[in-house]
Amino acid sequence: DDGECDARIVAAKAVLGDRLCILGHHYQRNEVFKHANFSGDSLKLSQMAAKTDAEFIVFCGVHFMAEVADIVTHGERIVILPDLAAGCSMADMANLAKVKQCWSELAEVLDPDQQVTPVTYINSAADLKAFCGRHGGIVCTSSNARAVLEWSFARREKVLFFPDQHLGRNTAYGMGIGLDEMIVWDYTKPMGGNTPDAIRAAKMILWKGFCSVHQMFQPAHIKHFRERVPHGKVISHPENAFEVCQNSDFVGSTEYILRTVRASNPGDHWLVGTELNLVNRLADEMREKGVTVEFMSPTVCMCSTMFRTDPQHLAWTLDNLVAGTVVNRIRVPQEIADPARAALDLMLEVVD
Ligand code: 13P
Ligand code: SF4
Repeated sequence: DDGECDARIVAAKAVLGDRLCILGHHYQRNEVFKHANFSGDSLKLSQMAAKTDAEFIVFCGVHFMAEVADIVTHGERIVILPDLAAGCSMADMANLAKVKQCWSELAEVLDPDQQVTPVTYINSAADLKAFCGRHGGIVCTSSNARAVLEWSFARREKVLFFPDQHLGRNTAYGMGIGLDEMIVWDYTKPMGGNTPDAIRAAKMILWKGFCSVHQMFQPAHIKHFRERVPHGKVISHPENAFEVCQNSDFVGSTEYILRTVRASNPGDHWLVGTELNLVNRLADEMREKGVTVEFMSPTVCMCSTMFRTDPQHLAWTLDNLVAGTVVNRIRVPQEIADPARAALDLMLEVVD
């Protein structure tokens, strides 16, 4: 049971001491999150991974995050994902074959290596980061997408943004790029479903991917909240649809959402459009300060893959480490890790 797992996790942490660093994303369930040595959004966690001296990084998050940790540590740490089935459905909406197909279709209309910067959201497989590294592109997270796009447009006239169309659209629109300057690349259709003229005219080419959790939030939820709580404020993650972000007062990464809501005054009332575990934890924390925090959807929207990491898997992983056995190591082959690291390092330089 959970109590028994809890005790095993605490005991293993005590034995492993500084050899172990547990990283926890904000979407993790409480029973796991409370054991993390550090928590954060995708950017902060990748920086934590790069910094730690620990021999073992146990990543309570999803697969692409553990891959990033292995890449930024040059394979010199042992990075472990407690449940290998913890993927990301959005990351799976793009793959190398489809992106290469897109690149060669773009080459029928223009010269992509001269005119298009490929930008991948960190929520993507390592080989897509490597693709960006090899084609003059870069990685971004939800907290630095704007700086990354500004860098990209300063170099080439167009951006191919994958896999999340919403982060791409919301960020570009905020920079003054019109919706009429953006096209969606539907990877199930030839030329992404676009005409050559539309491709030539576009500044932003948005891959048709989305987050299955954030797509549940609707502008109507915000409308009803504003009618009920006129003084309330709305804060959303940029993986939300354009209309949801446009109707929000604040838009930003999970770390930004926590920072902003934590800075509020007693009596403030928030509607939050991001994953349920984060919102529930924030609501509990803020209740003590007289601040109300509500979840945006009337239905339960959890990230089912973040939820896969449970105390059982964490306890099993740590027990094995104590016994000298490494299970569920995430290792990115060097020929992929090297160009992927180039695209990640570029992101960190652009942000600084
Ligand atoms: P951030 O925590 O970087 O904002 O990302 C949210 C997310 O969906 C992670 O998969
Ligand atoms: Fe992927 Fe969405 Fe889950 Fe984040 S919340 S890990 S983007 S499916």
